[in-house]
Amino acid sequence: MTSHRAPTIPAPFPLSRPRRLRATPWIRDLVAEHRLAPSDLIWPMFVLDGEGIEEPVPSLPGVARLSIARAVAAAGEAVALGIPCVALFPYTDARHKNPEASEAWNPENLVCRATRAIKDAHPDLGVLLDVALDPYNSEGHDGLVREGVIVNDATLEALERQALVQAEAGADILGPSDMMDGRVEVIRRALEREGHQDVTIMSYSAKYASAFYGPFRDAVGATGALKGDKKTYQMDPANGDEALREVAADLAEGADMVMVKPGLPYLDICRRVKETFAVPTFAYQVSGEYAMIEAAARNGWIDGEKAMMESLIAFKRAGCDGVLTYFAPRVARLLG
Ligand code: PBG
Repeated sequence: MTSHRAPTIPAPFPLSRPRRLRATPWIRDLVAEHRLAPSDLIWPMFVLDGEGIEEPVPSLPGVARLSIARAVAAAGEAVALGIPCVALFPYTDARHKNPEASEAWNPENLVCRATRAIKDAHPDLGVLLDVALDPYNSEGHDGLVREGVIVNDATLEALERQALVQAEAGADILGPSDMMDGRVEVIRRALEREGHQDVTIMSYSAKYASAFYGPFRDAVGATGALKGDKKTYQMDPANGDEALREVAADLAEGADMVMVKPGLPYLDICRRVKETFAVPTFAYQVSGEYAMIEAAARNGWIDGEKAMMESLIAFKRAGCDGVLTYFAPRVARLLG
């Protein structure tokens, strides 16, 4: 990341001509301040039960839900492309959902089976799993709902059980994405206690109550289940200082890395987090951001490839160490 020294005051025109450094591709490359590499990417994938299934997600053109063997193949592609990590999200059938979200801590649940299969085939590829109840909760929320209220402390117990089966299945990174208070400490202490001290936590620290998650909720089958919104736990888009308090709390509770989500509309937050804490900082370019670029590109309104690359270098410029993006395989292929 660029340091923040005072900018050099340029000589007056024509002694200074900034266009000299833009004149040719080679000199533009030579002076580029930031670069995107496949090693900056985390590839989010949707898995579902069954055999030989590759089911397109209509609101995420180009993205499909994959049955486990296909996800293993896609993980192999990630390895070949130099992508260091995949993030797995389960499409959960309604019959596995209940108000206690108990499927979340079933060691044989879909995402645990997928993790074992991927780690067996590709032990050197990182696997990140979301810690949150929404895929398994018949109420659609990330936390348990009791009499219409999302209850914090009872949810923490469920998250602890979920985190432990995920670590047991071989997840390398746990991503608490539920925004309950105190979750990182509960998960970290449980991991220490149960011998998973090397499992890392990438906390979804500054996660906003955003309209840009729509296609994701379709992809995991949560759209129908969710009643109301997530504003009592996800952050208000009007707030920036609060994001710093959330990050500070998560680091104090044992998070190794932090994340800002969504991505592009919150680049100011990425920048502030990186400057304030100087810890590994990630952004999630979420489903709605991807869908907007894809939709416009497929209509011929923008150049999709250029918009994709521009959107991703913006994260590096803002100070992010890496990005979760549905574009990951395409970008990595393009970068060679
Ligand atoms: C669930 C979760 C969400 C996303 C990642 N984990 C959705 C939500 O909070 O409703 C969104 C990712 C995306 O939109 O791509 N805890």
